[in-house]
Amino acid sequence: MNSVTYKFSNASTQYYFASGFATLKRLVDPKNAIIITDDNIFNAQTSRFKGWNTIVLKPGEEYKVQATVDSIIEQLIAAGADRKTTLIGIGGGVITDITGYTASVYMRGISFGFLPTTVLAMVDAGIGGKNGVDVGVYKNLVGTIRQPGFILYDHNFLNSLPDSEWTNGFAEIIKHACIKDAAMFKELQAGSLLKYRKSRKLMEELIRRNALIKIKVVQKDEFEKGDRRLLNFGHTLGHALENQYELSHGQAISIGMTYASQISAQLKGFRDTEKVVHVLEQYGLPTYAEFDKKKVLEVLKMDKKRERKEMNFVLLDKIGKGVVYPIPLTTLEKIISAL
Ligand code: GLY
Repeated sequence: MNSVTYKFSNASTQYYFASGFATLKRLVDPKNAIIITDDNIFNAQTSRFKGWNTIVLKPGEEYKVQATVDSIIEQLIAAGADRKTTLIGIGGGVITDITGYTASVYMRGISFGFLPTTVLAMVDAGIGGKNGVDVGVYKNLVGTIRQPGFILYDHNFLNSLPDSEWTNGFAEIIKHACIKDAAMFKELQAGSLLKYRKSRKLMEELIRRNALIKIKVVQKDEFEKGDRRLLNFGHTLGHALENQYELSHGQAISIGMTYASQISAQLKGFRDTEKVVHVLEQYGLPTYAEFDKKKVLEVLKMDKKRERKEMNFVLLDKIGKGVVYPIPLTTLEKIISAL
């Protein structure tokens, strides 16, 4: 039961990499725990949930809303959940976000942990403590920052992951490479989705490497005053597109990274836009796309990364080196209108 503990400002999280579902019983007593998962995972793996109290949600980003949290809270009350109860989110980013948020507000905060089941949740969504819900087209507008007590990795969940979920996760992996890890960018250029899917060992290494990139960034800047903003590469435009065009998160940020690279070329002399675009396409992700610039600009103005009249946009100096670059909204409007 090997684990490694990483400390954040107010809490520590134990990471059980390359572990298994069976370990969960050693971490939490099922009598004092409630699992939150979704229909897809529950129906595909029903036997695993035997002996656990489980709340099963409808799958999908459209359910990452306050109404779902209210319904979970009612079920927690009915189940007699108290301050000794631990919530366990088993699922992708929607489940980890909702579980973390509900646990952060229920009785002013109870313990929680995750068993992420998608590549995206394993390398990104499950890590970092930000959790919350969407409000209309505004992604993650309401939430808290609170770290899970543990994250348990069981790669068996990846066996039944649909193709679209693999590409979704690789968008965040490519993002990490672009902003922090030029060597990993090269490895991704030389690899393929198939190669990673076929090798459990390669995938376990890639997941751990990406989890560590994110953990280290968050450790240094949990409350996003500085370097943590780099993790938003591709997300400013991506989030504005995601709910408007019903794109997956990976698809949306892939388009966002494409245009952020182009903007980096304009404002920072970045020379490798085509390399970024090529890697995204290599992993089955969309790049250049038609979108309604006016609508996107309206949503952008509500983005959390906006500070008064400036937007903290993440650009690339070079591959492996992201930088936060404040762009006045008026300039951004001109740049986006001209894309
Ligand atoms: N839960 C995702 C993050 O903290 O970035």
